[in-house]
Amino acid sequence: MLPQEWQSNKMKKISPISTSPSNTEADAVIVTLPQNGAPTSPVYADPRLTELVVSLMSNREFEGKLYETLVVHRPAGFAAPLLVLIGLGNVDSHTSGHAFRLCATAARAISNKLRSTVALFADAHWSAKQRSHAIAGLCVGSQGNDGYRQEPNRYPFEQIWCAGCTDDICERGHVLGESVNLARTLVNEPPSHLYPETFIERMKALAGDGAMSLEVWDEHKLHAENCRSLLAVAQGSARPPRLGILRYQGTQPDGHWLTLVGKGVTFDSGGLSLKPSESMKTMKCDMGGAAAVVGALHAASRLKLPVNVMGLVGLVENMPSANAYKLGDVVTARNGKTIEVLNTDAEGRMVLADVLDVAVEYGADRIIDLATLTGACVVALGQDVAGVMTNDQDWCDSVLECSQECGEFAWQLPMFAEYREQIRSDIADIKNVGNGRWGGAITAAKFLEEFVSNVPWVHIDIAGPAYLDRPSAMLDAGGSGVMVRTLTELIARHTT
Ligand code: BES
Ligand code: MN
Ligand code: ZN
Repeated sequence: MLPQEWQSNKMKKISPISTSPSNTEADAVIVTLPQNGAPTSPVYADPRLTELVVSLMSNREFEGKLYETLVVHRPAGFAAPLLVLIGLGNVDSHTSGHAFRLCATAARAISNKLRSTVALFADAHWSAKQRSHAIAGLCVGSQGNDGYRQEPNRYPFEQIWCAGCTDDICERGHVLGESVNLARTLVNEPPSHLYPETFIERMKALAGDGAMSLEVWDEHKLHAENCRSLLAVAQGSARPPRLGILRYQGTQPDGHWLTLVGKGVTFDSGGLSLKPSESMKTMKCDMGGAAAVVGALHAASRLKLPVNVMGLVGLVENMPSANAYKLGDVVTARNGKTIEVLNTDAEGRMVLADVLDVAVEYGADRIIDLATLTGACVVALGQDVAGVMTNDQDWCDSVLECSQECGEFAWQLPMFAEYREQIRSDIADIKNVGNGRWGGAITAAKFLEEFVSNVPWVHIDIAGPAYLDRPSAMLDAGGSGVMVRTLTELIARHTT
């Protein structure tokens, strides 16, 4: 069954309105304001709002600094019982990332109680795209991590009204928000409930309406296809592995296929190279890459983007057992390369090795893989920033542009040939770890590069941002849905 929160989210209604903030009969009204209230915004056509803002700014109760949030109860002269002011700061021009973050922050500030109808009055300068991301922010910020609680902590808005928006903008924002929430929900599912077979069930439900097709490789097919690297990881678990392939065909089948590949380790214990408890606690998040791929395909298909997108997710559980793969094992990957296993906790690259090879064989002309791949990437860039590595700078630049627009932080790391030396094995073609821990994010990417042939490829290590240990101002703790918006933006641009 789909969790209740996901279903309720699906029933949300989002529509344009043309009332003024003070006249709007909603449960809450959200208004963005520039720093020191530059009188350019049309909200100043509302005298009651102007009066309130002037008074708040004159006694510095609210200054309009970027992301500053003030919740005003029973604002004088307003039809709504709640007014949320959010600051736009001094930023010259906002990105869609700003719009998303601002609105998610406002939404999170008031969704601890049921606010059935919420109205948004966003900056007049914001483009259609920024407005869509703003609406997505409202959907994401008001959605909590309540799938397994009797009393929810957060109440998703049931209806959103959006001033200065068209039906199309509302629909796009809605789809984007839902797609991010879909990825978050998948990551938040506990490993008792979400494992390779049930992950596939979720994909089936999404493909069910006919907009996408789903191909599933079970353990027998994976054997027949010589996916021994992926199978080596899976063999320690009682849960059989799966390869899920979602296809959304938005244009001629002979056209190009943009291919997304996701690491779907539904739980990473480390295997025989067992993780300590503290590091294992959040390892249900190790399918965050697969969740992002599913979220992005969901968005592309619901938005009916004129592009062909394929999403491949390698689904396994990494467990220690009598059957587990061992240190010193040598396995032959699907593309024929032999891999010496020297750490069973470097399982993500073992899984992706075979999935990338299938992607290449299926005619991918551009690949992006997403993976919670290395702790080293978190050491290098921190918890908020994804690491990006590539074999094709032009393709990488396109990805980085989209991440900048969407405000999903990503930073490129080098792929110097010298790093390749570190994965040379004494007895096999390559080994699955570098020499020591330094530069671990890059040696992992060098390993993956061995399996993408000549196809332009970008690897995004989301080990940091995929999962929040603690809540932020805009998001509850748990899965973040990171990169769903960036990927959707990239897919949309890929059409031209
Ligand atoms: N899933 C982990 C990486 C990870 C760490 C994700 C922290 C999210 C938060 C991955 O499978 C792993 O264990 N990587 C090892 C690689 C090492 C053994 C070469 C690591 O980072 O320690
Ligand atoms: Mn691991
Ligand atoms: Zn892992």
